[in-house]
Amino acid sequence: MAIPDSFLEELVSRSDIVDVVSEYVPLTKRSGSNLFGLCPFHSEKTPSFSVAPDKQIYHCFGCGKGGGVINFIMEIENLPFRDAVALLARRAGMEMPEDDTPGELRSKRARILQLNRDAARFFYENLSRPDGAAAVEYINRRGIAAAMVKRFGLGAAPDKWTGLSDAMLDMGYTVGELADAGLVKRGRNGGIYDTFRNRLIFPVIDARGSVIGFSGRILGDGEPKYLNSPDTPVFTKSRNLFALNLAKKSKRGMFILVEGNVDVVSLHQAGFDCAVASLGTSLTPEQVLLMSRYTKNVVIAYDADSAGVKAAQRAIGMFEKTGMNVRVLRIEGAKDPDEFIKKNGADAFSVLLDKSENHTEYKLMSIRAKHDLNTDDGRLDYLKEATEMLAQVSNAVEREIYARHVADDAEVSVEAVKTEVDKAGRRLRAIRKKQRERQNMRPEAAIQPAASSLRYENPASAAAEEGIVRLIIMDPSLAFKTGELKKEDFTSPFLGKIFETVRGRAQAGEDVSPPLVAAGLTADEAAQFTTLMQRPVSAANAAQALGDYIDKIKTEKLKNSAGRDLLAVRERLREKKGFGG
Ligand code: GTP
Ligand code: MN
Repeated sequence: MAIPDSFLEELVSRSDIVDVVSEYVPLTKRSGSNLFGLCPFHSEKTPSFSVAPDKQIYHCFGCGKGGGVINFIMEIENLPFRDAVALLARRAGMEMPEDDTPGELRSKRARILQLNRDAARFFYENLSRPDGAAAVEYINRRGIAAAMVKRFGLGAAPDKWTGLSDAMLDMGYTVGELADAGLVKRGRNGGIYDTFRNRLIFPVIDARGSVIGFSGRILGDGEPKYLNSPDTPVFTKSRNLFALNLAKKSKRGMFILVEGNVDVVSLHQAGFDCAVASLGTSLTPEQVLLMSRYTKNVVIAYDADSAGVKAAQRAIGMFEKTGMNVRVLRIEGAKDPDEFIKKNGADAFSVLLDKSENHTEYKLMSIRAKHDLNTDDGRLDYLKEATEMLAQVSNAVEREIYARHVADDAEVSVEAVKTEVDKAGRRLRAIRKKQRERQNMRPEAAIQPAASSLRYENPASAAAEEGIVRLIIMDPSLAFKTGELKKEDFTSPFLGKIFETVRGRAQAGEDVSPPLVAAGLTADEAAQFTTLMQRPVSAANAAQALGDYIDKIKTEKLKNSAGRDLLAVRERLREKKGFGG
């Protein structure tokens, strides 16, 4: 009866919590990235029901209820798990899966990951064999440093029909496994041949460090320029990013999103170690979510052509929807970041990076794209939205210039536009003032969780226990660095349970995003879980923080058992006194 994890992962990623909740509760944006509305689960006059687009969870600061999208549907529609999943599946246009044996799927995935790792090693080692000579030459021609070849694990697919498959079959993998991993194709005569031949190989490595697929670039000109692994049980293009495994460790506190794999390598080589690229598809909401888990800041550095500009406009909207701070970097005098850096160097790119901003121009373009300027209604709607946006521009000269553009677009006078911008500005300031007043009036206690406030036996340890859970959810690869820690080490049985679940999922290569973790919890547990997810977590020094937390739990445990021993001794003394006295 179990629903396979891969299905739930896809369902959750296709069921945006903001969209789903909005079908039941009107939400408005307040400070920060969260949205607020009146809680559907208890009666209230001021909104304390929050939805976090980045974490994909809801949480009520009033009644304490919380969870992910599946919990929400279970709760609001009063449905059991499976029915809630079915409802969301219908909504997302997905077919409910046949019953599957999760155990089998799990081991199949593990086997493919192992095969991918061995294939990546084979490709890499080819670089020092005659079979890789052409790729080495290409690497040199593109100016890719040896250190980058190593860091990215670049490799060479030999110019042979069965170079890789022969090697993998020798290692004991089966034809079926090679096909499942997308590494071979079946020929007309029933034989197999390698998917990647005579190409420079970029392994795609996920945040956990697993090799999930490959991108292969042709050595020189020719079609297709890039070949990617097909979607497999371990690889979904739309849900992964090239170089996320490296960029997530960057200390820059942002991502630089580029179009090409070569751009990514080039940027890392120039010291911009936070560059990532989507895998030959246009940016997907899943990729945006994935990024928002690590940092709220992103700079788009797409190619300078018109396709790049268009793609950037689209991407801005997607990042803003998730509450991220997005800026656009404009490449000048080169076609893409790689070419720019080759021509002008890393410092020049730094300058562009500092200059990048969320240009009013970009915003205006994306607003314009939404409306049909050939109709009166369309022009009115455009005017309304554009003037509201311009009201938020602080620079008066800029406001003036763009007011002219808007006037031209909407075919009205500049004066009319300026009047509207001023009005919108006054409205905006009034709203902000009210918000400030309301925030000042609201005592801190009022936004503390009520019903499901977390109570811990040992608060000193609990902070560390919570922290570990948050860290693993942010960066699942940390699950492998928790050593001997077990759920019994946790003073809170609830946190111990969550820890074990999350670690188990992460180590098995399964998704640990909050809505999926919450989906496996009872309503009360989910509420506690979203409470603890409210606290911030920082990606900087995550590994160090993890180590500190583990130490804290261990010392608290020691102290505690020492404390208990003391208590026992005192009890015994007291008994003795009683008898003696
Ligand atoms: P260079 O031209 O060598 O600088 O490569 P690039 O990595 O910068 O690629 P480009 O800017 O041409 O394209 C951007 C990205 O789109 C690539 O990295 C690929 O992921 C993807 N892409 C480009 N061409 C193809 C193709 O023919 N097929 C597929 N599936 N993806 C492609
Ligand atoms: Mn390019």
